[in-house]
Amino acid sequence: MNLFDVYPLFPIEPVKAQGSWLWDKNGKKYLDLYGGHAVISIGHGHPVFVKALTTQLNQISFYSNSVVSSLQQRLADKLGQVSGYPEHQLFLCNSGAEANENALKLASFVTGRKKIIAFRKAFHGRTSGAVAATDNPKIVSPFNAGHLVEFLPFNDKEALKAAMGSDVAAVIIEGIQGVGGIHVADDEFLRFLATQCKTYGSLLILDEIQSGYGRSGKFFSHQFSGIKPDLITIAKGMGNGFPVGGVLIHPDIKPWHGMLGTTFGGSYLACAASLAVLEVIEQENLINHAATLGTAWMDQLKKVPGVLEVRGRGLMIGFDLPAEHSSLRNNLLHEHHIFTGEAKPHTIRLLPSLNITEEESAIFQKALMQELS
Ligand SMILES: Cc1ncc(COP(=O)(O)O)c(C=O)c1O
Repeated sequence: MNLFDVYPLFPIEPVKAQGSWLWDKNGKKYLDLYGGHAVISIGHGHPVFVKALTTQLNQISFYSNSVVSSLQQRLADKLGQVSGYPEHQLFLCNSGAEANENALKLASFVTGRKKIIAFRKAFHGRTSGAVAATDNPKIVSPFNAGHLVEFLPFNDKEALKAAMGSDVAAVIIEGIQGVGGIHVADDEFLRFLATQCKTYGSLLILDEIQSGYGRSGKFFSHQFSGIKPDLITIAKGMGNGFPVGGVLIHPDIKPWHGMLGTTFGGSYLACAASLAVLEVIEQENLINHAATLGTAWMDQLKKVPGVLEVRGRGLMIGFDLPAEHSSLRNNLLHEHHIFTGEAKPHTIRLLPSLNITEEESAIFQKALMQELS
C-alpha cells in the first residue's frame, strides 16, 4: 500500500532527538528551531516527560471516558493553576483542529447561532468547521464551504465593528497568527474584540494552539491584553509530541451529558504527557526564559542586514526576507543543518523548544549572517 502523498518531504529521516537536537539515520546532527510545527515545548526526550510516559505505560495506557480518571482532574487542576484559568472547565481531545471544532460547536450550542467571524491569513485546522474558518481556499472543499464564515482584516477595529451583530455565534482568532506568518493580535484590538463579543452575546474563541503554553513569554499570548476569552483552544506544545488537545471553557457554559465527546481524548498517556509538560514548564521557569531569550533574539535579528521585518513574542518569531533570499530555509537546512519553518512568500518562522539555550540561538545567528552576507 502506498502512503497518500500529501506532504512534500525533506530527504531527511530523524531517528533520535534530545533537547533542541535531532540526528538523522546517518548520524548527522541538526539544530531544531521548528519543533515539528511548534509542537516541541520542553525539548525532545526530556527525562521528566520520558519517565512520566513510561511509568504510565507500565500501569494502564487506555480506557474510555466512561470511567473515572483522576489523572484528567489532576491535569485540569494543574493547567488551571499554571495558566491562570482555575475557574474555566477543560474538555480534552486529540488535536488542534478537533479543539477548534469543539469550540465552534460549543459557541453555536450556547448562542443558538451559526455565523462565525474569522480573520484573513487565519489557520485553525483541517476539519469541517476549523478549515471553513481558515483563510486558504485551496484546502476548503465544497463540503466545508457550507459553513457561514466571514473573514475580516486582522487587527481592524472598524471592519470588526461593521461586521458584528446579534447573528454572530463566535469570533475565532489566533493569539499570534502562526501559519499566516507570525502576526501578533494587537492588545488593543483584542480588548475591543472582547467588548464587542460581550455587546452582541457572541463568544470569543482564542486559538492558542500555536501561541500558547508559554511560547509567547506568557502562558497564553492573549494574556498580554488582559482579556479573558470564553473559549481557549490548546494542542501542540501541550503534549510535547504526544497527540493531545483541549478547550478551556468559561464557567458560565453549562455542560450536558453527550454535548461533546471523544474516544481517545484525555487518555492516561495523554494526561501523563501533558502533566509532565506543565511540571517542566514550571520547574524550569520556561515562560520567563522564553520571554527573555525571545526578546534578545528578536533584537539581534533586527540588526541583521538583509532582514526586512521581525515580528513575534517570546519564542514565536518570524522575519521577512527579500525575494532573492527565497532559498534561505533550504540553505539553513542542507548547509548549516538547522530546521526552521516558513510562511509564504518570504517569512522564516522560528518555533524552538522553550528551553533552547542562548548558545544554540547563537549558532543560528551565525548561520544567518553567513547566508545573508
Ligand atoms: C493556530 C493553529 N490552530 C489550529 C491548528 C491545527 O492543529 P492540528 O494540526 O493539531 O489539527 C494549527 C496547526 O498548525 C495552528 O497553528
